[in-house]
Amino acid sequence: MAETPPVPADLSRRLLAWYDAGHRDLPWRPQPHALGEPYGVWLSEVMLQQTTVAAVIPYYRAFLERWPTVADLAAASDAEVMAAWAGLGYYSRARNLLACARAVAVRPGGAFPRTEAELRALPGLGPYTAAAVAAIAFGQQAAAVDGNVERVLSRVFDDATPLPAFKPKARVLAQALVPADRPGDFAQAAIDLGAVVCRPRNPDCLICPWRDACRARANGTVALRPVRPEKPERPHRLGFAYWVESEHGVWLVRRPPKGLLGGMLALPCGDWTAEAVPLALPKGWRATILNAPVRHVFTHFSLDLTVVRVGAAGDPALVFGEGFWGTAADLAGLPTVMQKVRRRAEESSK
Ligand code: ADE
Repeated sequence: MAETPPVPADLSRRLLAWYDAGHRDLPWRPQPHALGEPYGVWLSEVMLQQTTVAAVIPYYRAFLERWPTVADLAAASDAEVMAAWAGLGYYSRARNLLACARAVAVRPGGAFPRTEAELRALPGLGPYTAAAVAAIAFGQQAAAVDGNVERVLSRVFDDATPLPAFKPKARVLAQALVPADRPGDFAQAAIDLGAVVCRPRNPDCLICPWRDACRARANGTVALRPVRPEKPERPHRLGFAYWVESEHGVWLVRRPPKGLLGGMLALPCGDWTAEAVPLALPKGWRATILNAPVRHVFTHFSLDLTVVRVGAAGDPALVFGEGFWGTAADLAGLPTVMQKVRRRAEESSK
Protein backbone atom coordinates (compact mmCIF):
# COMPACT_ATOMS: atom_id res chain seq x y z
CA MET A 1 0.00 0.00 0.00
CA ALA A 2 1.33 3.42 -0.91
CA GLU A 3 1.88 5.84 1.92
CA THR A 4 -0.57 8.71 1.91
CA PRO A 5 0.67 12.09 3.05
CA PRO A 6 -1.85 14.06 5.09
CA VAL A 7 -4.51 15.58 2.88
CA PRO A 8 -5.73 19.09 3.70
CA ALA A 9 -9.24 18.48 4.94
CA ASP A 10 -11.04 20.93 2.71
CA LEU A 11 -9.48 20.11 -0.70
CA SER A 12 -12.64 18.36 -1.89
CA ARG A 13 -14.90 21.13 -0.71
CA ARG A 14 -12.75 23.75 -2.43
CA LEU A 15 -12.75 21.79 -5.68
CA LEU A 16 -16.54 21.35 -5.63
CA ALA A 17 -17.07 25.06 -4.89
CA TRP A 18 -14.86 25.90 -7.87
CA TYR A 19 -16.84 23.45 -10.04
CA ASP A 20 -20.17 24.91 -8.92
CA ALA A 21 -18.95 28.41 -9.72
CA GLY A 22 -18.34 27.68 -13.41
CA HIS A 23 -17.83 24.17 -14.73
CA ARG A 24 -17.78 23.34 -18.43
CA ASP A 25 -21.27 22.67 -19.72
CA LEU A 26 -20.91 19.41 -21.67
CA PRO A 27 -23.76 17.39 -23.22
CA TRP A 28 -23.15 14.29 -21.08
CA ARG A 29 -22.95 16.15 -17.79
CA PRO A 30 -25.73 16.03 -15.21
CA GLN A 31 -26.53 19.20 -13.28
CA PRO A 32 -24.44 19.58 -10.11
CA HIS A 33 -25.82 17.42 -7.27
CA ALA A 34 -27.68 15.19 -9.79
CA LEU A 35 -26.80 11.72 -11.05
CA GLY A 36 -26.06 11.09 -14.72
CA GLU A 37 -27.98 8.72 -16.96
CA PRO A 38 -25.85 5.52 -17.01
CA TYR A 39 -25.94 4.88 -20.77
CA GLY A 40 -24.90 8.43 -21.67
CA VAL A 41 -22.24 8.56 -18.96
CA TRP A 42 -20.74 5.26 -20.08
CA LEU A 43 -20.87 6.19 -23.78
CA SER A 44 -19.18 9.55 -23.15
CA GLU A 45 -16.47 8.07 -20.95
CA VAL A 46 -15.59 5.40 -23.54
CA MET A 47 -15.46 8.04 -26.29
CA LEU A 48 -13.39 10.42 -24.15
CA GLN A 49 -10.60 7.90 -23.53
CA GLN A 50 -7.62 9.33 -25.46
CA THR A 51 -9.88 11.71 -27.40
CA THR A 52 -10.57 15.40 -26.89
CA VAL A 53 -13.89 16.80 -25.72
CA ALA A 54 -14.27 18.81 -28.95
CA ALA A 55 -13.81 15.70 -31.10
CA VAL A 56 -16.21 13.63 -29.00
CA ILE A 57 -19.22 15.98 -28.83
CA PRO A 58 -20.58 15.39 -32.40
CA TYR A 59 -20.05 11.62 -32.13
CA TYR A 60 -21.74 11.51 -28.73
CA ARG A 61 -24.77 13.36 -30.09
CA ALA A 62 -24.94 11.23 -33.24
CA PHE A 63 -24.77 7.95 -31.28
CA LEU A 64 -27.50 9.03 -28.85
CA GLU A 65 -29.73 10.14 -31.68
CA ARG A 66 -29.27 6.94 -33.63
CA TRP A 67 -29.22 4.56 -30.64
CA PRO A 68 -31.08 6.30 -27.80
CA THR A 69 -30.78 3.40 -25.34
CA VAL A 70 -28.24 0.72 -24.58
CA ALA A 71 -30.73 -1.85 -25.95
CA ASP A 72 -30.83 0.01 -29.27
CA LEU A 73 -27.05 0.00 -29.45
CA ALA A 74 -26.93 -3.69 -28.52
CA ALA A 75 -29.23 -4.46 -31.46
CA ALA A 76 -27.04 -2.59 -33.99
CA SER A 77 -24.80 -4.50 -36.36
CA ASP A 78 -21.01 -4.49 -35.94
CA ALA A 79 -20.57 -2.80 -39.34
CA GLU A 80 -23.00 0.03 -38.51
CA VAL A 81 -21.26 0.82 -35.22
CA MET A 82 -17.76 0.60 -36.69
CA ALA A 83 -18.79 2.99 -39.49
CA ALA A 84 -20.40 5.44 -37.03
CA TRP A 85 -17.18 5.35 -34.95
CA ALA A 86 -14.96 6.04 -37.98
CA GLY A 87 -12.72 9.04 -37.33
CA LEU A 88 -12.68 8.73 -33.52
CA GLY A 89 -9.71 6.34 -33.58
CA TYR A 90 -8.66 3.54 -31.23
CA TYR A 91 -11.16 1.24 -32.85
CA SER A 92 -10.94 -1.51 -30.25
CA ARG A 93 -13.07 0.85 -28.16
CA ALA A 94 -15.92 0.53 -30.67
CA ARG A 95 -15.74 -3.25 -30.63
CA ASN A 96 -15.73 -3.26 -26.84
CA LEU A 97 -18.53 -0.69 -26.77
CA LEU A 98 -20.77 -3.02 -28.71
CA ALA A 99 -19.70 -6.08 -26.69
CA CYS A 100 -20.49 -4.14 -23.52
CA ALA A 101 -23.89 -2.93 -24.78
CA ARG A 102 -24.81 -6.52 -25.61
CA ALA A 103 -23.63 -7.74 -22.19
CA VAL A 104 -25.73 -5.07 -20.47
CA ALA A 105 -28.79 -5.76 -22.63
CA VAL A 106 -28.97 -9.37 -21.41
CA ARG A 107 -28.63 -8.44 -17.73
CA PRO A 108 -31.70 -8.35 -15.49
CA GLY A 109 -33.77 -5.37 -16.62
CA GLY A 110 -31.21 -4.63 -19.34
CA ALA A 111 -29.56 -2.19 -16.91
CA PHE A 112 -25.95 -1.34 -16.08
CA PRO A 113 -24.67 -2.72 -12.77
CA ARG A 114 -24.19 -0.10 -10.06
CA THR A 115 -20.91 -0.98 -8.36
CA GLU A 116 -17.37 -0.28 -9.48
CA ALA A 117 -16.45 -3.99 -9.23
CA GLU A 118 -19.39 -5.18 -11.36
CA LEU A 119 -18.83 -2.42 -13.92
CA ARG A 120 -15.18 -3.39 -14.12
CA ALA A 121 -16.24 -6.88 -15.24
CA LEU A 122 -17.97 -5.53 -18.38
CA PRO A 123 -16.08 -5.59 -21.71
CA GLY A 124 -13.85 -2.57 -22.25
CA LEU A 125 -14.36 -0.97 -18.82
CA GLY A 126 -10.95 -0.36 -17.27
CA PRO A 127 -10.47 0.94 -13.73
CA TYR A 128 -10.94 4.58 -14.76
CA THR A 129 -14.16 4.11 -16.73
CA ALA A 130 -15.70 1.76 -14.15
CA ALA A 131 -15.01 4.28 -11.38
CA ALA A 132 -16.25 7.22 -13.47
CA VAL A 133 -19.56 5.49 -14.28
CA ALA A 134 -19.99 4.28 -10.68
CA ALA A 135 -19.44 7.80 -9.35
CA ILE A 136 -21.21 9.91 -11.99
CA ALA A 137 -24.21 7.67 -12.75
CA PHE A 138 -24.66 5.83 -9.44
CA GLY A 139 -23.23 8.16 -6.80
CA GLN A 140 -20.73 5.57 -5.56
CA GLN A 141 -17.69 6.86 -3.69
CA ALA A 142 -15.32 5.70 -6.44
CA ALA A 143 -12.10 7.43 -7.47
CA ALA A 144 -11.88 7.97 -11.25
CA VAL A 145 -8.18 8.48 -11.94
CA ASP A 146 -7.01 9.08 -15.49
CA GLY A 147 -3.78 10.65 -16.74
CA ASN A 148 -5.09 14.15 -16.07
CA VAL A 149 -5.98 13.40 -12.49
CA GLU A 150 -2.59 11.72 -12.01
CA ARG A 151 -0.91 14.91 -13.18
CA VAL A 152 -2.93 17.06 -10.77
CA LEU A 153 -2.19 14.75 -7.83
CA SER A 154 1.53 14.45 -8.61
CA ARG A 155 1.67 18.24 -8.41
CA VAL A 156 -0.51 18.79 -5.36
CA PHE A 157 1.57 16.27 -3.41
CA ASP A 158 4.80 17.06 -5.30
CA ASP A 159 5.37 13.35 -5.75
CA ALA A 160 8.47 12.52 -7.81
CA THR A 161 7.60 8.83 -8.27
CA PRO A 162 7.92 8.26 -12.02
CA LEU A 163 4.93 6.99 -13.98
CA PRO A 164 3.71 4.32 -14.21
CA ALA A 165 4.75 3.54 -10.60
CA PHE A 166 2.89 6.66 -9.50
CA LYS A 167 -0.45 5.27 -10.73
CA PRO A 168 -1.34 3.10 -7.70
CA LYS A 169 -0.28 5.94 -5.39
CA ALA A 170 -2.52 8.34 -7.29
CA ARG A 171 -5.47 6.00 -6.75
CA VAL A 172 -4.87 5.93 -3.02
CA LEU A 173 -4.51 9.71 -2.90
CA ALA A 174 -7.65 10.22 -4.97
CA GLN A 175 -9.72 7.75 -2.97
CA ALA A 176 -8.91 9.73 0.18
CA LEU A 177 -10.26 12.87 -1.50
CA VAL A 178 -13.55 11.58 -2.97
CA PRO A 179 -16.40 12.97 -0.85
CA ALA A 180 -19.25 10.68 0.17
CA ASP A 181 -21.97 13.13 -0.82
CA ARG A 182 -20.97 14.25 -4.36
CA PRO A 183 -18.57 11.68 -5.82
CA GLY A 184 -19.79 12.20 -9.40
CA ASP A 185 -19.37 15.97 -9.29
CA PHE A 186 -15.97 15.46 -7.72
CA ALA A 187 -14.92 13.20 -10.63
CA GLN A 188 -16.06 15.76 -13.21
CA ALA A 189 -14.48 18.60 -11.26
CA ALA A 190 -11.13 16.79 -11.09
CA ILE A 191 -11.31 16.23 -14.85
CA ASP A 192 -11.98 19.94 -15.42
CA LEU A 193 -9.20 20.96 -13.10
CA GLY A 194 -6.73 18.85 -15.13
CA ALA A 195 -8.11 20.00 -18.48
CA VAL A 196 -8.62 23.70 -17.86
CA VAL A 197 -6.25 24.75 -15.03
CA CYS A 198 -3.61 22.16 -14.20
CA ARG A 199 -2.70 21.66 -17.86
CA PRO A 200 0.37 19.67 -18.87
CA ARG A 201 2.10 22.85 -20.04
CA ASN A 202 1.43 26.40 -18.85
CA PRO A 203 -0.83 25.53 -15.93
CA ASP A 204 -2.92 28.44 -14.71
CA CYS A 205 -1.91 28.21 -11.05
CA LEU A 206 -3.27 31.66 -10.19
CA ILE A 207 -6.88 30.55 -10.62
CA CYS A 208 -6.43 27.07 -9.14
CA PRO A 209 -8.71 26.22 -6.21
CA TRP A 210 -5.86 24.13 -4.78
CA ARG A 211 -3.09 26.72 -5.24
CA ASP A 212 -2.48 27.25 -1.51
CA ALA A 213 -2.21 23.52 -0.87
CA CYS A 214 -0.12 22.65 -3.94
CA ARG A 215 3.30 21.46 -2.81
CA ALA A 216 4.82 21.52 -6.30
CA ARG A 217 3.82 25.16 -6.60
CA ALA A 218 5.49 25.94 -3.27
CA ASN A 219 8.59 23.98 -4.29
CA GLY A 220 8.76 25.38 -7.85
CA THR A 221 8.51 21.89 -9.38
CA VAL A 222 5.16 22.12 -11.21
CA ALA A 223 6.76 21.80 -14.63
CA LEU A 224 8.65 18.69 -13.48
CA ARG A 225 5.50 16.77 -12.42
CA PRO A 226 4.53 14.13 -13.19
CA VAL A 227 7.89 12.48 -13.75
CA ARG A 228 7.64 10.51 -16.98
CA PRO A 229 9.73 7.53 -18.03
CA GLU A 230 11.85 8.16 -21.12
CA LYS A 231 9.84 7.53 -24.26
CA PRO A 232 11.24 5.16 -26.84
CA GLU A 233 11.36 6.79 -30.25
CA ARG A 234 8.36 6.08 -32.46
CA PRO A 235 9.41 3.77 -35.32
CA HIS A 236 8.56 4.70 -38.89
CA ARG A 237 6.88 2.29 -41.29
CA LEU A 238 6.17 2.29 -44.99
CA GLY A 239 3.41 0.74 -47.05
CA PHE A 240 1.17 0.94 -50.09
CA ALA A 241 -2.56 1.58 -50.29
CA TYR A 242 -4.48 0.68 -53.42
CA TRP A 243 -7.31 2.68 -54.94
CA VAL A 244 -9.19 0.38 -57.28
CA GLU A 245 -12.19 2.11 -58.83
CA SER A 246 -14.78 0.79 -61.27
CA GLU A 247 -18.31 1.75 -62.28
CA HIS A 248 -19.45 -0.35 -59.25
CA GLY A 249 -17.50 1.67 -56.69
CA VAL A 250 -14.14 1.43 -54.90
CA TRP A 251 -12.72 -1.91 -53.76
CA LEU A 252 -12.85 -2.16 -49.95
CA VAL A 253 -11.77 -4.87 -47.56
CA ARG A 254 -12.53 -5.42 -43.89
CA ARG A 255 -9.51 -5.52 -41.57
CA PRO A 256 -9.14 -8.62 -39.37
CA PRO A 257 -11.11 -8.23 -36.11
CA LYS A 258 -8.04 -8.02 -33.85
CA GLY A 259 -5.16 -5.57 -34.10
CA LEU A 260 -4.73 -2.10 -35.55
CA LEU A 261 -7.96 -0.71 -37.12
CA GLY A 262 -9.44 -4.12 -36.31
CA GLY A 263 -12.87 -4.73 -37.82
CA MET A 264 -12.81 -1.45 -39.78
CA LEU A 265 -13.37 -1.07 -43.50
CA ALA A 266 -10.17 -0.20 -45.35
CA LEU A 267 -8.62 0.25 -48.74
CA PRO A 268 -6.47 -2.75 -49.62
CA CYS A 269 -2.87 -2.48 -48.35
CA GLY A 270 0.09 -4.77 -48.08
CA ASP A 271 1.94 -5.06 -44.78
CA TRP A 272 3.29 -1.92 -43.11
CA THR A 273 6.95 -2.54 -42.38
CA ALA A 274 10.32 -0.79 -42.32
CA GLU A 275 10.59 -1.38 -46.06
CA ALA A 276 7.63 -1.10 -48.40
CA VAL A 277 7.06 -4.06 -50.72
CA PRO A 278 4.39 -3.50 -53.38
CA LEU A 279 1.89 -6.23 -54.19
CA ALA A 280 2.50 -7.90 -57.55
CA LEU A 281 -0.23 -6.96 -60.03
CA PRO A 282 -1.27 -9.29 -62.86
CA LYS A 283 -0.20 -8.49 -66.42
CA GLY A 284 -2.42 -5.96 -68.11
CA TRP A 285 -3.47 -4.15 -64.90
CA ARG A 286 -2.55 -0.47 -64.86
CA ALA A 287 -0.85 1.04 -61.82
CA THR A 288 -0.24 4.76 -61.26
CA ILE A 289 1.77 5.80 -58.23
CA LEU A 290 0.53 9.11 -56.82
CA ASN A 291 3.12 11.65 -55.79
CA ALA A 292 4.02 12.20 -52.15
CA PRO A 293 2.89 9.50 -49.75
CA VAL A 294 0.14 10.03 -47.20
CA ARG A 295 1.48 10.43 -43.67
CA HIS A 296 -0.33 9.22 -40.57
CA VAL A 297 0.89 9.01 -37.00
CA PHE A 298 -0.43 6.16 -34.86
CA THR A 299 0.35 5.83 -31.17
CA HIS A 300 3.13 3.30 -31.68
CA PHE A 301 4.50 4.17 -35.12
CA SER A 302 4.30 6.70 -37.90
CA LEU A 303 3.42 5.63 -41.41
CA ASP A 304 4.01 6.80 -44.97
CA LEU A 305 1.54 5.18 -47.34
CA THR A 306 2.20 5.42 -51.05
CA VAL A 307 -1.09 5.53 -52.88
CA VAL A 308 -1.44 3.46 -56.05
CA ARG A 309 -4.34 3.87 -58.43
CA VAL A 310 -5.07 0.56 -60.05
CA GLY A 311 -6.94 -0.10 -63.27
CA ALA A 312 -8.00 -3.69 -62.64
CA ALA A 313 -8.46 -5.92 -65.67
CA GLY A 314 -10.05 -8.68 -63.58
CA ASP A 315 -11.45 -9.53 -60.15
CA PRO A 316 -9.67 -7.40 -57.48
CA ALA A 317 -10.23 -10.18 -54.91
CA LEU A 318 -7.53 -12.21 -56.71
CA VAL A 319 -4.89 -9.66 -55.68
CA PHE A 320 -6.33 -7.81 -52.70
CA GLY A 321 -8.35 -10.50 -50.99
CA GLU A 322 -12.04 -10.77 -50.21
CA GLY A 323 -13.85 -7.47 -50.41
CA PHE A 324 -16.62 -5.58 -52.15
CA TRP A 325 -17.26 -2.51 -54.28
CA GLY A 326 -17.86 0.22 -51.70
CA THR A 327 -20.30 3.08 -52.25
CA ALA A 328 -19.92 6.69 -51.10
CA ALA A 329 -21.68 5.71 -47.84
CA ASP A 330 -19.15 2.93 -47.24
CA LEU A 331 -16.28 5.32 -47.96
CA ALA A 332 -17.68 7.73 -45.36
CA GLY A 333 -17.15 4.98 -42.76
CA LEU A 334 -13.41 4.63 -43.40
CA PRO A 335 -11.02 5.42 -40.53
CA THR A 336 -8.93 8.60 -40.67
CA VAL A 337 -5.78 7.18 -42.26
CA MET A 338 -7.91 5.72 -45.07
CA GLN A 339 -9.75 9.03 -45.51
CA LYS A 340 -6.37 10.62 -46.18
CA VAL A 341 -5.67 8.00 -48.86
CA ARG A 342 -9.12 8.56 -50.32
CA ARG A 343 -8.59 12.32 -50.52
CA ARG A 344 -5.25 11.84 -52.24
CA ALA A 345 -6.80 9.48 -54.79
CA GLU A 346 -9.81 11.69 -55.42
CA GLU A 347 -7.64 14.79 -55.86
CA SER A 348 -5.55 12.94 -58.43
CA SER A 349 -8.55 12.27 -60.62
CA LYS A 350 -9.72 15.92 -60.73
N1 ADE B 1 -12.61 13.21 -20.03
C1 ADE B 1 -12.94 12.02 -19.49
N2 ADE B 1 -14.15 12.07 -18.90
C2 ADE B 1 -14.62 13.32 -19.08
C3 ADE B 1 -15.82 14.00 -18.73
N3 ADE B 1 -16.79 13.37 -18.10
N4 ADE B 1 -15.94 15.31 -19.09
C4 ADE B 1 -14.96 15.92 -19.76
N5 ADE B 1 -13.82 15.34 -20.12
C5 ADE B 1 -13.64 14.05 -19.79
